[in-house]
Amino acid sequence: MAGLILALDVTDREKAINIANEVADYLHAIKIGWPLVMAAGMDIIDSLSQIKPIICDFKVADIPNTTKLIVREARNHGAMGIIVHGFVGRDSIKAAVDEAGKMKVYVVAEMSHPGALDFMQKHTDDIVLMAKEVGAAGLIAPATRPERITHIRSLAGDMEILAPGVGAQGGSAKEAIEAGATHIIVGRRIYEANEPAKAAKALYDELTL
Ligand code: C5P
Repeated sequence: MAGLILALDVTDREKAINIANEVADYLHAIKIGWPLVMAAGMDIIDSLSQIKPIICDFKVADIPNTTKLIVREARNHGAMGIIVHGFVGRDSIKAAVDEAGKMKVYVVAEMSHPGALDFMQKHTDDIVLMAKEVGAAGLIAPATRPERITHIRSLAGDMEILAPGVGAQGGSAKEAIEAGATHIIVGRRIYEANEPAKAAKALYDELTL
């Protein structure tokens, strides 16, 4: 069943934990990235993992050895998944997959912002096929461009596709799922809402009704 992943891009530890608890019932997982980890420290992964599985959006883009070391840190703190960039090439992605163990590796196939058209989109197909070949669990594809999700799905087989860009960036949850996404990722629409639980429930209902 399609699920909702909260992009918890707040920079206060207590706020992060409060919001996570408030909306947990509607979530498949929580995605955290540099804003929260830099503000609260890596232990925030351990703490939030008690509430929901955590995906570390570190968009790792480095040589294989450094990639391996970063993936290991995320794994040691109990993350369920990690997001890496694909443009760095096969050896780095393979290093991530080899080090991940049971943790899932998600490869960015295409980003959701307008700048993704400058360079990234030209290489999406090659990134998707490479990610599939090296055994990554899933891909990140833009809810802002549902037709691109459909295209990426046609290459990805049964890999998971996580789609950010719903809400603040203009994408629709329902359209992203209909286009072929497995789960959607939503940040500001939930954590900036006056009532985050209400906002999360509305998205959850859109996915499940
Ligand atoms: O607040 P909003 O819902 O736009 O948050 C989207 C989240 O997904 C952010 O954490 C952003 O960094 C992330 N993301 C994205 N597009 C990608 C990959 C990740 O928007 N392709």
